[in-house]
Amino acid sequence: MSLYITTPIYYVNAQPHLGHAYTTIVADTYSRFRRLCKEDVLFQTGTDEHGDKIAEAALAAGIPPKEYADNISRLFREAWPRLHVKPDTFIRTTDEHHVRTVQQILTKVHDQGDIYLGSYSGLYCRGCERFMTDKELVDGNCPDHQTAPLPISESNYFFRMSKYQDWLIEYINKNSDFITPERYKNEVLSFLSEPLEDLCISRPKSRLDWGISLPFDDDFVTYVWFDALINYLTGLGYPDGERFNHYWNVAEHIIAKDILKPHAIYWPTMLKAIGLAPFKRLHVHGYWNINEAKMSKSIGNVVRPAALCRDFGVDTVRYFLLREMSFGLDASFSDESIIARQNSDLANDLGNLFSRSLTMVNKFAGGTVPEPSGLEPDESELSEAAVAMIGRYKDNMQSFAFNRALQEVWSVISLANKYIVTSEPWVLAKDSSRASQLNTVLYNLVEALRLIGLVLSPVMPETSRKMAAALGLAEDEQAKQNLVDHGRWGLTQPGVKIQLGDSLFPRLDKKTQQPQQHTGAKKKKERAATETSAANDLGLISFDDFKKLDLRVAEITAAEKINNSERLLKLTVLAPEERTVVAGIAEYYQPEELVGCQVIMVANLKPAKLMGVISHGMVLAARDEQGRLTLSSLSAGVPPGSRVS
Ligand code: MSP
Repeated sequence: MSLYITTPIYYVNAQPHLGHAYTTIVADTYSRFRRLCKEDVLFQTGTDEHGDKIAEAALAAGIPPKEYADNISRLFREAWPRLHVKPDTFIRTTDEHHVRTVQQILTKVHDQGDIYLGSYSGLYCRGCERFMTDKELVDGNCPDHQTAPLPISESNYFFRMSKYQDWLIEYINKNSDFITPERYKNEVLSFLSEPLEDLCISRPKSRLDWGISLPFDDDFVTYVWFDALINYLTGLGYPDGERFNHYWNVAEHIIAKDILKPHAIYWPTMLKAIGLAPFKRLHVHGYWNINEAKMSKSIGNVVRPAALCRDFGVDTVRYFLLREMSFGLDASFSDESIIARQNSDLANDLGNLFSRSLTMVNKFAGGTVPEPSGLEPDESELSEAAVAMIGRYKDNMQSFAFNRALQEVWSVISLANKYIVTSEPWVLAKDSSRASQLNTVLYNLVEALRLIGLVLSPVMPETSRKMAAALGLAEDEQAKQNLVDHGRWGLTQPGVKIQLGDSLFPRLDKKTQQPQQHTGAKKKKERAATETSAANDLGLISFDDFKKLDLRVAEITAAEKINNSERLLKLTVLAPEERTVVAGIAEYYQPEELVGCQVIMVANLKPAKLMGVISHGMVLAARDEQGRLTLSSLSAGVPPGSRVS
């Protein structure tokens, strides 16, 4: 079986946030899962670059729309690898091939009489980029944007969507998993129970010219949705190309509930008019709120995935998002909830099982996986549970119930932790007559961990890689692992050497993680200072802001580990005065190698207490894609305390 999976193409009027990250991580996880089932997958994401919103944002930034779109599109493209998301194609609606194909489709649909010129007056919401019906408004406002739509009256081109209404209703009724979860299918059917209006698909250039020109009337551009939805075809090389023939009949789209109507109504009817089969499935998820409130720029509580990954690690973020949200329903993000998941599910349950098991193999079996003896009845509980878990995990992943798939995995993790307690390997180790029982227990733990690591790979690729490496699997072997051939019990070869490494997940301290860090709504004054400007969207700061930083060369004169911390080193530096600075670099540097090094330091950061030590500044370091840190340095020695500008 093959799969073509897509995310929405994101508007380039804002930087990637938690909501975009969620959809794209879901698509990546699902792609990895289907590949783990030995299937052939094409995963596409991209950016939606035409329309009112983008034209407005570019105007505010004072740059041409294409340049603006190039900048933000790059931010999206670069955000994904940092979340270990690996799309196969990244489409932009300004791509030449896309523009040409949209025009070909418009010509075809126009020629066959399904696009006509009409006049229109209605209420237009700029935020939604569409006309709204009275029924959709709440107190006269668009419920999503809390603004009153503008009355607009003009000549425009219309797509005969109404012609396909009966066909669409029948198609949805006949294909029960066309729109899932079911609540969204019902929402669409309920909407379709009223007569469907034709879709206005043009905007006069006098009002908006940032779009694709209608090939049959140069005074108009096409409506952004008519342009955007076609990305799912052009990304496959449509109208020609092998990829289109191979993947279109296995197309599955992932979206959130905000864009249900364009995907469940406009898109299938457009496809029908083009003469193509509908996509296979539409997966609709709910919204991430922040501390139970809507995430919005004006509230100032927008959560950025890059900041989360920096503070919690990519795998914790991926795990949290998939475990915490029940696909289809809304969920709430808070710093406390991600810290709790990390400490309990990851550090306590999985991390402890992993480190305890490997430590025991090291201690009681000389670091090699022992030969198990024949299973005694009570020894088969773990293996049976692990095998049964794989089946349930697959079913849940297949139906987008990621939280339930993970619960299944965690039930085996708990069972394995209990198994350690009840089988007491440390007692067995003291009695040589029970050596074979000890070997069986150790083998079972290693084998359970192998299967756990395997099923976690779509969700937490890095953790899964670390687990497989510790269990002695060479990198080229790891790449070949799949559920069809390796999702069975008993494949670990006795005699394999295990590699005891670092713990998988550190425990996080709620106090030092500063819970307000990612989600705190800004005060009014702060908001005014940072809001709206498109320059902010591009992450630009003024020179005056930059001058506020006191950057200096610091020479490290002493370095030592901080008790009970795997991450932190206490550095004594000259800058030129002597200071203590705490740096989170202990995993990458030995204290001895740092003495005498010159690094760049932020000297005017407010002091902060970390693991009991007060830090007076911060040394700068670069983080690579694996999350490893490399300290900043200078190409030649300079006096300590020299200013960096
Ligand atoms: N450009 C259109 C989509 C065209 S697809 C042919 C668009 N872009 S968007 O940038 O607004 O992205 C909307 C999508 O971003 C949602 O459908 C969802 O995938 C994701 N999310 C945006 N905010 C979200 C939350 N708060 N929570 C979860 N996902 C959200 O609409």
